[in-house]
Amino acid sequence: MKNLDVILGKENLDFEDIQQLLSLEEPEEIELLRRKAFEVKQENVGPKIYLRGLIEFSNYCINDCYYCGIRKSNSSVKRYWLDEDEVVECARYAINKGYGSIVLQSGERRDQRFIDFVCRTVERIKSETRSEKLPDGAGITLCVGEQSYSTYKRFFEAGAHRYLLRIETSNPELFAKIHPESVSFARRLECLYFLKDIGFQVGTGVMIGLPGQTIEDLARDILFFKEIDADMIGMGPYIVHKQTPMAEYEEYFRKNKYKIYLLSLKMIAVTRLALKDVNIASTTALQALYPFGREEGFRFGANVVMPLLTPGQYRREYVLYEGKPCIDEFTNDCGECLIRRITNLGMELGLNEWGDSLHFRKRKSEK
Ligand code: 5AD
Repeated sequence: MKNLDVILGKENLDFEDIQQLLSLEEPEEIELLRRKAFEVKQENVGPKIYLRGLIEFSNYCINDCYYCGIRKSNSSVKRYWLDEDEVVECARYAINKGYGSIVLQSGERRDQRFIDFVCRTVERIKSETRSEKLPDGAGITLCVGEQSYSTYKRFFEAGAHRYLLRIETSNPELFAKIHPESVSFARRLECLYFLKDIGFQVGTGVMIGLPGQTIEDLARDILFFKEIDADMIGMGPYIVHKQTPMAEYEEYFRKNKYKIYLLSLKMIAVTRLALKDVNIASTTALQALYPFGREEGFRFGANVVMPLLTPGQYRREYVLYEGKPCIDEFTNDCGECLIRRITNLGMELGLNEWGDSLHFRKRKSEK
């Protein structure tokens, strides 16, 4: 591309620029994009990669999203539920290992029992993980879907300070195609605003390579992240799961696997260029496509990773997409392997710290 240097030199990317960058195909051009994104990461959020121990505490789900392996209608999944002690134990383990923060993720539920469980568990983790190194206890991120304003507020008051809620796609028509009617785009958006209003550091993201999704959609996704002023971004490739209504796309997916993988890396890089000081996760789904996918994510500008801490015996039941790595039942901690992989890249780890989004801190101090 003739004017690639010009675009990469811009302080603010417009819609056209973003589209052009996402369309790059030549390896040398993609390498220039990658280098620039990595440079912008180093300058804006520093050299460290932050860890969040991921605990998938339950796969019960009331939703029936067409793409997801743990959707309500998938009767092949054995449903499980970690009890409070098990979750707290995983969290303590993570903090002892120096991970600094944890993510509690589950299928979606909104009943009182669930809400009370989350609040109690968050409170216990907060009080039982305080140490000299982390006087305020673990940093806690929740990823438990759409809830009411008052529920989010309870979660926040219990001590969670970050929340991940992906928009999945910022194109409302595409959103409607991959969700049942009971899951609405407008509601998802409203929830993101609730979370911001309450004071959470808010993360969102999309799936990349959905059937029917265009480069224009993905460019708008990046503008959407900017518009809602997201603090954290978690996105990854869409990967077909056989026991879903979208199983028919297996062939499409197989044929486009490399393209989707590259597109995911380009999305990370361009999001870094456009949003600069946010935290961006290199997601497990990237590694599901290629064994070193997560490492590539860091090289393309991501600065957060979520080692899986779900106890081994449950891992096979939390498979949202095919080929999910690290579901070996004899493994309880993916951190050590990830840490090795990160240090092998010559990158630095942010141990024993929360690694909050700098964007959030700036946003707060400007108020
Ligand atoms: N492929 C990739 N990502 C998926 N997710 C759910 N199902 C899939 C899939 N088949 C992602 C969604 C959700 C997150 C928890 O997992 O984006 O928000």
